[in-house]
Amino acid sequence: MKSNSQKSVTLDPEKIPAHVAIIMDGNGRWAKKRLMNRVKGHEQGSQTVREIVTACRELGIGTLTLYAFSTENWARPKSEVKALMILLKRFIIGERGLLEKNNIRLNMIGQKERLPADVQKELNTTMDLTSNNTDMVLNLALSYGSRQEITTAVRNIAQKVQSNALGLDDITPDLISDHLYTRSMPDPDLIIRTSGEYRLSNFLMWQAAYSEIYISDTLWPDFSKAELFQILKNFQERDRRFGRVTCSTSNDG
Ligand code: IPE
Ligand code: IPE
Ligand code: MG
Repeated sequence: MKSNSQKSVTLDPEKIPAHVAIIMDGNGRWAKKRLMNRVKGHEQGSQTVREIVTACRELGIGTLTLYAFSTENWARPKSEVKALMILLKRFIIGERGLLEKNNIRLNMIGQKERLPADVQKELNTTMDLTSNNTDMVLNLALSYGSRQEITTAVRNIAQKVQSNALGLDDITPDLISDHLYTRSMPDPDLIIRTSGEYRLSNFLMWQAAYSEIYISDTLWPDFSKAELFQILKNFQERDRRFGRVTCSTSNDG
């Protein structure tokens, strides 16, 4: 049973992060601990996705990015990749009602063209269906990798320079941001990774420049709304300096 202790955590409504990104890790280990097939862990993990999407929407988080499948995950056994794609399709179809009811717009970042045709079709349908929803963006990172994203951006920019649409001086950090999948979104304020791994695994490496990072030991299928509240509380207590000095340590008054 997941605990339900979020009622004891009081969050400052003024300091709710605009963009939370989660590296949902540990499904395989969750299943292994129970002597089950890894796919069972992914199935249980998709239940957690449902709970966390709803919680983020209630909290007023503007964008929730979920790392669901990396460019490197294609190298997993064929059977696991296939099962993940089936689960993904099931989620995209099954959660249409939830997205509609909660006024959530579905978006994706990553190599859409690499996904199976049926998944692409259902993804497009759900994205079209929810395109006018305004309370939250649920941003799924699917066949996503930062290095691939940045490489594609560099190619596109180089092409524009070659055709004289851009000059070298036009290449700025903002221009690079505008050529990434995340172009219309704020950078993540908070990146959470579950399962106790201390790495980004090719996730939002450009966008994470000043993200706060929180590593939880909980395996993704066990992650809960209660823990999310605790992490947000921890986030709200942090001092985000962005390379500057804080008022409390500055001598300039
Ligand atoms: C995260 O869980 C889900 C995906 C990467 C698709 P894992 O499948 O990586 O679980 P572990 O890390 O093996 O426990
Ligand atoms: C990162 O998890 C990718 C997703 C959560 C989709 P991995 O399990 O693939 O990462 P590594 O292999 O432990 O770095
Ligand atoms: Mg993993």
